[in-house]
Amino acid sequence: MSNIQNVSVIGGGTMGNGIAHVFALSGSDVTLIETKQAYADRALNTIEKNLNRMVKKEKIKESEKKGTLDRIAVSLDAGSGVANADLVIEAVPEIFEVKKKVFKTVDEHAPKHAIFASNTSSISITKLAESTDRPDRFVGMHFFNPVPVMKLVEVINGLKTDPDVTEHILALADTLGKVAVPANDSPGFVSNRVLMPMINEAIFCVYEGVAEAEDIDHIMKLGMAHPMGPLRLADFIGLDICLDILQVLYDGFKDPKYRPCPLLVKMVDAGKLGDKTGEGFFTHD
Ligand code: CAA
Repeated sequence: MSNIQNVSVIGGGTMGNGIAHVFALSGSDVTLIETKQAYADRALNTIEKNLNRMVKKEKIKESEKKGTLDRIAVSLDAGSGVANADLVIEAVPEIFEVKKKVFKTVDEHAPKHAIFASNTSSISITKLAESTDRPDRFVGMHFFNPVPVMKLVEVINGLKTDPDVTEHILALADTLGKVAVPANDSPGFVSNRVLMPMINEAIFCVYEGVAEAEDIDHIMKLGMAHPMGPLRLADFIGLDICLDILQVLYDGFKDPKYRPCPLLVKMVDAGKLGDKTGEGFFTHD
């Protein structure tokens, strides 16, 4: 299988800019595709800020930071932005129709050998792959926030994914300094099938008055050695994202154990989405 040197990342949000960061740092030529220059500038600023943090911690040299930034080009057009891609990674909002439209466009413009990967946290890889003419070259590449820090990449096989493509992506993740772990396509894959019920249960504890939010997080941090309690983590992920993923689990399995807590639904309806709106279970700067 051909070498992966040119990587196109579609979407420069929290996950997309992190993915561009780690690929460019490991030596790939990255094209970051955004819809507006202002969004692209914001993504590049975030990458620079996170690289500066790594320089300050003496994890990389100033010259490596510069090299990384030099390897990132921006494109405001998905078609031309994937024209030389060996790998296309999609990190646009978690809306099936939006992702489908993106993949249809890039399928027309990307080289035939290019592998397509989605960073979706729960949408079916098998279903997304069918928006393209290359379901055998389509895989899930699920990164975790903050991408430069978190070691895991969950690699998801769609029903038609060629096992050689999966092997190639597993090996590639290794070159990023990540640990890649395979899973088969199923609602929520492994990570969110296990994580989201824990977060949902913590929200039920607040809803039922079992304990205060701070105390629930305190118990889980100290008792389970989690770096963040489940409610702080829910704010960090975004309460709207948590609700979307729980909905995928609930719809996918038709099992009431995945029923989103009514408090979560109410908070999302009220626009309390966590870090990104400044208020969730906790308030944030
Ligand atoms: N880029 C680069 N480095 C970063 C960073 C970023 N965006 N954010 C933090 N860091 C680095 C810091 O420089 C620091 O480095 P050192 O260890 O060398 O000092 C390290 O990460 C820890 O950061 P801080 O000291 O600032 O803060 P912290 O100790 O509180 O850690 C945290 C912050 C890494 C986010 C930690 O709290 C943590 O691991 N939380 C859990 C995160 C998690 O579970 N993420 C997964 C969410 S689920 C998901 O993403 C997928 C999904 O589908 C929903």
